[in-house]
Amino acid sequence: MSVAGALLGRARKAGFDYRCFRVMRLALDRASPVPALPDGLRLAEVDERTVAESGDEEIRESAWYGGRDASGYALLRTSRIVCLQWLWFGERLRRAGFWRFADGDAVSMHLVTVPDERGRGHATLIKRLTAERMRERGFAALYSRIWWTNAPSLRVSEKAGWQRAGTTLSVVTPWREAPFEWRFARRGRPVAPGGGA
Ligand SMILES: CC(C)(COP(=O)(O)OP(=O)(O)OC[C@H]1O[C@@H](n2cnc3c(N)ncnc32)[C@H](O)[C@@H]1OP(=O)(O)O)[C@@H](O)C(=O)NCCC(=O)NCCS
Repeated sequence: MSVAGALLGRARKAGFDYRCFRVMRLALDRASPVPALPDGLRLAEVDERTVAESGDEEIRESAWYGGRDASGYALLRTSRIVCLQWLWFGERLRRAGFWRFADGDAVSMHLVTVPDERGRGHATLIKRLTAERMRERGFAALYSRIWWTNAPSLRVSEKAGWQRAGTTLSVVTPWREAPFEWRFARRGRPVAPGGGA
């Protein structure tokens, strides 16, 4: 284990913890060229029941993201979901509440590629395709929240043209039940807490 990992382990035992996410944003103000799908792949809208029946655990366990005010988009190889993205809007967006959202915003809440298909560009492709779908549906901007060390996911956002909007940090201490929370916009300006749609 690294020194940082050992220190974090000790801090957790003493009742401290933290959560730090990069907040990414994509403005949907203009149409962007839709990339072609590689042979053998198709994009489909999926619901939570279809996802819950997947033979892949990583896909199945994300079924709870579906339901009201959620859209699931999948890249399928024949009938197998190889990459899946869940987007929330409306009431679900308000519940996500990690940023100060505006009318017309939606959030990419989850993105997963099955392990044996990673590194082939699927996640980047689905983010590009769904951005265009969401724009056509009338959404103005998309957000996502990515764990600050999740390099593959940050890379996917960068490749798909998303911009960094800011960072959220929450710190748990043994002295207070509620965590301390901060939001920093890209240029270091603190963002007022509250958020929600
Ligand atoms: C994040 C995830 C969806 C990416 O899916 P994917 O289909 O492999 O993504 P892509 O192939 O489009 O792009 C992956 C990029 O990450 C890069 N990458 C992979 N591992 C990396 C690492 N450890 N450090 C830096 N970059 C890394 C790849 O090289 C590739 O970039 P490149 O095209 O410049 O080489 C997939 O890794 C996953 O399902 N992870 C687990 C779930 C998760 O963390 N989801 C995101 C939650 S916000």
